[in-house]
Amino acid sequence: MGWQSWLDGAAAAREEAGLTRRLRPRGPDDDVVDLAGNDYLGLSRHPEVRRAAADAALLWGAGTGASRLVTGTLTLHGELEAELADWLGQPGALTFSTGYHANLSIVGALADRTAHVISDAHIHASLIDAVRLSRAQLTVVPHNNVAAVHAALAARPGVRSLVLAESVYSVLGDEAPLAELAEVCRAYGALLVVDEAHGVGVHGPGLVHRHGLAGRPHVLVTATLSKSLGSQGGAVLGPRAVLDHLVNTARPFIFDTGLAPASAAAALAAARVARARPDLADTIRARVTGLAHTLDVPAPAGAVLSVPMPSPEAAVGAQADLLTEGVRVGCFRPPSVPDGVSRLRITAGAGVTEEEWERATKAIDSVVGEVR
Ligand SMILES: Cc1ncc(COP(=O)(O)O)c(C=O)c1O
Repeated sequence: MGWQSWLDGAAAAREEAGLTRRLRPRGPDDDVVDLAGNDYLGLSRHPEVRRAAADAALLWGAGTGASRLVTGTLTLHGELEAELADWLGQPGALTFSTGYHANLSIVGALADRTAHVISDAHIHASLIDAVRLSRAQLTVVPHNNVAAVHAALAARPGVRSLVLAESVYSVLGDEAPLAELAEVCRAYGALLVVDEAHGVGVHGPGLVHRHGLAGRPHVLVTATLSKSLGSQGGAVLGPRAVLDHLVNTARPFIFDTGLAPASAAAALAAARVARARPDLADTIRARVTGLAHTLDVPAPAGAVLSVPMPSPEAAVGAQADLLTEGVRVGCFRPPSVPDGVSRLRITAGAGVTEEEWERATKAIDSVVGEVR
């Protein structure tokens, strides 16, 4: 089969299944209440954050111009890493150009064919890809099932093991049993990697910190600078020995240009604002709980409300109806949903005004009510 007919066949199959995705460029100010993004605290547009990004671009230039081990490490990276480590209560931090790279790096640098990775069934795509690249032996355990993690560790005694979890799961929005996972990992000498992409900011310094696990040598954290911190980039936080190992062996760190100055400075300013304004996280909690009650769905652990829809077409239809009402929400469809259930994805962030939030939630209640 030639390439053109292969591409045509794939496009037709997507269309048939209602799974075609299209890019919808937006302007800078399009008058729509945005409840689709991950800018949970509304910091991407915060004046101090924007100012910091602009000043850094003027001072350092638009890019770092090289990988971190060549000339791409700036004193600004050091400042950001120190701030993140201090906030999250960790011995150190290492930043990457995306959260995706941070996840590829931690798994790829620690696991190889001789290692065993135990992964929650709902883990983010970046961690799934990381395990594939590492070629480690893999056990996928049912979601949030500590007994299954226990059994998987017990099945291969003496093998270097890595357990992967998200503190707040991106699709289901529920929380990992972090204290139990950390305990079972400790008992078996395993490392626990917790992706805090949806925990940091929404829960201040994150759920690893909240559970008193920050700084424990067998609990490593990855984070993104691209959600609550409103910028771009990622980080791994943990013991210095692990970070030194990453600097020396993690391919997505070594063979990638250093995080851009504007992104680093914006994330640094955003972390400082987030630390100074715990009320932003309180607003998220109040909004997400209120909307969950209205829509009669469980209140999530994070900022994202996941509303199951009867079909991918119904989800896309509801999303389009809401856009005509001036409200942008997200939509999850296979393959982005581990259980195959299409959902509306609504961010109850602190970045919209109370009036916008009221207007948006009224529209959501009415559109979702019609579909269900
Ligand atoms: C759980 C989780 N981990 C990692 C990432 C990747 O982060 P980034 O967008 O910074 O690459 C995301 C982003 O969607 C995520 O939801």
